[in-house]
Amino acid sequence: LNASLVLNPDHVVAPVRRRIFGSFVEHMGRCVYTGIYEPGHPTADEDGFRGDVLALTRELGVSLVRYPGGNFVSGYRWEDGIGPAASRPVRRDLAWHSIETNEVGVDEFVRWARKADVEVMYAVNLGTRGVAEALDVHEYLNHEGGTHLSELRRANGSEAPHGVTLWCLGNELDGPWQTGHKTAHEYGRLAAETARALRQAEPGLELVACGSSHSAMPTFGEWEATVLELAYDQVDHISCHAYYEVLDGDVDSFLASAVDMDYFIDRVVATADAVGARLKSPKRIGLSFDEWNVWYQKRFQADPPVEWEVAPRVIEDRYDVTDAVVVGSLLISLLRHSDRVAAACQAQLVNVIAPIRSEPGGPAWRQTTFHPFALTSRLAGGQVLRVEAVSPTYPTARYGDVPVVDAVATHDPATGDVVVFAVNRHRAEPVELRVSLAFGAVEVAESWTLSDPDTSATNTEHDPDRVVPRPQPTDLTGDTLTVVLPPVSWNTVRLV
Ligand code: AHR
Repeated sequence: LNASLVLNPDHVVAPVRRRIFGSFVEHMGRCVYTGIYEPGHPTADEDGFRGDVLALTRELGVSLVRYPGGNFVSGYRWEDGIGPAASRPVRRDLAWHSIETNEVGVDEFVRWARKADVEVMYAVNLGTRGVAEALDVHEYLNHEGGTHLSELRRANGSEAPHGVTLWCLGNELDGPWQTGHKTAHEYGRLAAETARALRQAEPGLELVACGSSHSAMPTFGEWEATVLELAYDQVDHISCHAYYEVLDGDVDSFLASAVDMDYFIDRVVATADAVGARLKSPKRIGLSFDEWNVWYQKRFQADPPVEWEVAPRVIEDRYDVTDAVVVGSLLISLLRHSDRVAAACQAQLVNVIAPIRSEPGGPAWRQTTFHPFALTSRLAGGQVLRVEAVSPTYPTARYGDVPVVDAVATHDPATGDVVVFAVNRHRAEPVELRVSLAFGAVEVAESWTLSDPDTSATNTEHDPDRVVPRPQPTDLTGDTLTVVLPPVSWNTVRLV
């Protein structure tokens, strides 16, 4: 098969937004306990944070981490997690039917985030709580001093304010599974008033309203329209969440998951802009794709975790080569929409459907999905270029005919780097991709493929580097780059 595309430095979509390389730490399963935090682990530092997980987080190139949930946040009392560890209450977590010890709270998390060199995105509880508690946690985190809660923070050892600027107004409140689930109207009003109050405290905050939990929700579209009609002037962004898996053995459709992500983004943008037009507002709402990933939810539903345990093993999906290719293709979709996607968080960071796995007292390692994320975060820079790949198509049961090749590119005028990211979704055929470059003299600096004759290969504790990106042969003749994309592959080439 053959495909082609043209790269032109003038065809700019938007700057690469570093916040799209976000991740997510929820108090769920072993993401926090024995994930980022495990006092007594051989690599633990003075604060009990695992050094091996910290190192892998940095290597992954994470820019932003959403915290503390997720479904968890909709029943969470943030004040349970502050002050002396011994006096923190042990609580039920209704979302995951686990026991929360509150050993880690917001001060510890911010300390970890500083070490990991990531920005914190903080989610407030709008399930069981409301405006007052959102203001309280804001006062604790961001107020300089001289008030009850800011002084409490200082007394608890965090002298300087935490300076969190990006806030989620609740989580997935459109979902009937959510503690404190609401109608769009109930939530829209609450989000608007919470946002208004937070802005009274600190006008410069960036606020994210909850959008739909996924694009197949019965209220998808209507939810966004109602919420934004009520909160348009108060919020900056609306969230999107999406998880993908192989359903009914249909790998062809799974490989085309980014078609759904494109659709999701385009529909939310259209809905937000329609509301903006009705309100005659010049403002444009951004998208915060603050939960996305491959997640085998069917396996979770078939095998739910043990009830009321501390840090149980929950959704510790082991990812294969096909999953990694899909993760790479979802990153292509996010990059392509950099004009409207302001932030994105892969869910989650460690153990829970995560690119990083760790064992209690044992090693930490990179899942297959670690690699496309790390390479995209490292290589994408400057501006995103509009790319129209000319590609053969293949039929899928879920999305009809879809292109075999999907691609995006970035160009950094400061360094001269041009980077192409491309997937081949075909399960049997390699594709020869020809890239015409409307740039000056260039040479190939590096080229990688994530592919394997065994697409079900995984990385494990005992074989952690079974699947890694491998150098990819390329040909650069004149202004044409040629690269052969193996079947089921994610690929990247950097030219300088
Ligand atoms: O990431 C796992 C869960 O998926 C989150 O808690 C929830 O927000 C979503 O449904």
